[in-house]
Amino acid sequence: MGAFLALLMRPQHLERVARQALEDAGFSLVQSDVPLVTGGGWRADIVAWGPDPDGELVAAAVVECKSAPRSSSSREDVLGQLARAASVLGSPSCYLFDGSRWFIADHRFSELLLVPGPSGPGDFARPLRLSDPAVMERFLNQRLWASLNRQRDSHSWEAPTMQLADYVEGLLQDPHGLTLREGDELSRVEVNRRTLFAVVLRQVQGLLSPRRLATVEVGTDDRLVQTMVRLARVQSEWTLADPFCGIGTILWELEQRARTEQSRLHVHGVDINQDTARLSAALAALSDAGTSVRAGDAFNWLLGKSMDCIITEPPINVLLSKPRDYWAGSTRHWEPLVIARCLDALRPGGRLVIHTARGWLWHQRDERFRLELANRARITALLGLPDGLFTSTSIPSALVVVEKSPPTDTLIADLRDDWYEQLSPGGACWQRYVELVEQG
Ligand SMILES: C[S@@+](CC[C@H](N)C(=O)[O-])C[C@H]1O[C@@H](n2cnc3c(N)ncnc32)[C@H](O)[C@@H]1O
Repeated sequence: MGAFLALLMRPQHLERVARQALEDAGFSLVQSDVPLVTGGGWRADIVAWGPDPDGELVAAAVVECKSAPRSSSSREDVLGQLARAASVLGSPSCYLFDGSRWFIADHRFSELLLVPGPSGPGDFARPLRLSDPAVMERFLNQRLWASLNRQRDSHSWEAPTMQLADYVEGLLQDPHGLTLREGDELSRVEVNRRTLFAVVLRQVQGLLSPRRLATVEVGTDDRLVQTMVRLARVQSEWTLADPFCGIGTILWELEQRARTEQSRLHVHGVDINQDTARLSAALAALSDAGTSVRAGDAFNWLLGKSMDCIITEPPINVLLSKPRDYWAGSTRHWEPLVIARCLDALRPGGRLVIHTARGWLWHQRDERFRLELANRARITALLGLPDGLFTSTSIPSALVVVEKSPPTDTLIADLRDDWYEQLSPGGACWQRYVELVEQG
């Protein structure tokens, strides 16, 4: 009779019955139709999440639901599906539920053995913990997409930074952990905050990637950011800023550097775009490293500052509506003004590392600025980079290092595709740079 009933059960009903059995066995977090690879159609019918003996949340059981898979080939298909799911999720128990009976796969996935029902999670230490980045990403992707879908009606994807800011701020409301299922206290886990930050940052960068959104200008290239921070030769207790911080890629690299070198840095970010600044401020709160981010105009914020170092990538091709006065006259052109304002905001001996377009290096209209800059500051390095390092454009760019110190020689290099290796420890250009900086 049981098998006959099972033949009549629709797949959703089959899954509902199986979920109930898992919940009755003691699993508080049971999910249906779980994607096994990001964006792919490959899914497990049911995954029950539970603690391992140390209380770490793992995929404890995977279930395939199939009404009466009688033929040996359909049983083999089920065993193959369970084996693949187990290899992705690392689940120790893999079941087939046919509507009335439970079968467990043996450890070689060669046989299905009849069992009375699913085994429960057993006793475990509270609180439940989550530190595996792959498992965390799985839950966070579900949460991110639920948050984006909720907002779909009220905002368009024209404002992705606003939607992502809402998402990250939502995570901050779970101050000591992460609620994996809304309204369910039992599904709350204590998360490793560093892993949480790293996973959320990867989600944000992935969604704002120029490959997805042609319009974004945030999210500086990772290798470029590493290089800029390396060129800055940051020292412990320095106060640093990125006054055009976007989503904060430079700020997070500085935090990471401070953590690995066990140094202390005072890091500030500013962005004129309210949503972008709100997103970066939420990320800063999540990272919990003391970085401050605010919304504002860099030109106002820089006034009267005395920073040890500024590392930044301002926007390119900006023409101001009105000329502004500065120490080389008056200009509507962006790069001279940005460099001048950043230089003014450094303490004596402070350092600016900036990624800019190259026009100001040769354009006649900027000649007075170049001469004045060479008199007032130490232009330590002018490093031409290959095309394509500015997000969303292919225009050629340069890395410029300027110090608020008396002028000395300048390292000038026009780097090609091996720019990253050239500017990494062991690279010829890096070696020359270090010698020059250390000559002082
Ligand atoms: C090239 S993006 C910075 C990318 C950043 N490094 C990141 O990783 O996201 C330049 C940023 O400067 C901001 N911006 C433009 N004008 C500004 C101003 N006057 N003051 C502060 N920020 C400004 C833009 O909103 C944009 O986020």
